[in-house]
Amino acid sequence: MKLQLALDDISTDEALALLDRVHPFIDIVEVGTPFLLEEGLRPVRLFRSRYPDLPVLADAKIMDAGHYEARQAFAAGAAYVTVLGVTDLLTVKGCLEVATEFGGTVVADMICVEDLPKRVRQLEDLGMKALAVHTGVDQQAAGRTPADELAVMKQASRQSELFVAGGITPATLSRYIDLGADVAIVGSGIRHAPDPVSAAEELARLARR
Ligand code: 5RP
Ligand code: MG
Repeated sequence: MKLQLALDDISTDEALALLDRVHPFIDIVEVGTPFLLEEGLRPVRLFRSRYPDLPVLADAKIMDAGHYEARQAFAAGAAYVTVLGVTDLLTVKGCLEVATEFGGTVVADMICVEDLPKRVRQLEDLGMKALAVHTGVDQQAAGRTPADELAVMKQASRQSELFVAGGITPATLSRYIDLGADVAIVGSGIRHAPDPVSAAEELARLARR
């Protein structure tokens, strides 16, 4: 399993200080949605030049203007960009076309998709090869986890790499490994751990077993 560090509520200086210590333990670094809102695509460019071997995911959660917004992220150096799985398939198609041009990957974030098997089929028919089960921060606060939806997605998907996000910590990672996720996305579980470096190290140890 791969490990993706999501950098959300963080400044560029804090992100660089954290990454300098944890980059050996992670496979993908995510410039999270709130970080993109704060800083734009600058951190994507910065991480690309500072860690050339570490793929960057821009969590743009694209909802419209797929061509235009995906192009912005890939042109800045992102290897992955997210589109919302609930959006119009025309938007998804636009993102996928630009990804092909850049040799990048679009990840469909399935947050709030009601009929997962149906949407997985539609997205994969368009050529989607990466799907993210995602229990959002507000849903987490209401006690939800991504486990049940991951099990549904695992059954439904024919061709996709499966990402999973939503409050994952070293204590819960094994559940998602057992359910067959390919990439675990961890934000607060590292960033807000009492010792972020130890948390990243422990997550990497479990993920790479
Ligand atoms: C929120 C996100 C977060 O990046 C994702 O949920 C991972 O963070 P955490 O591990 O804290 O849930 O995209 O919309
Ligand atoms: Mg995110």
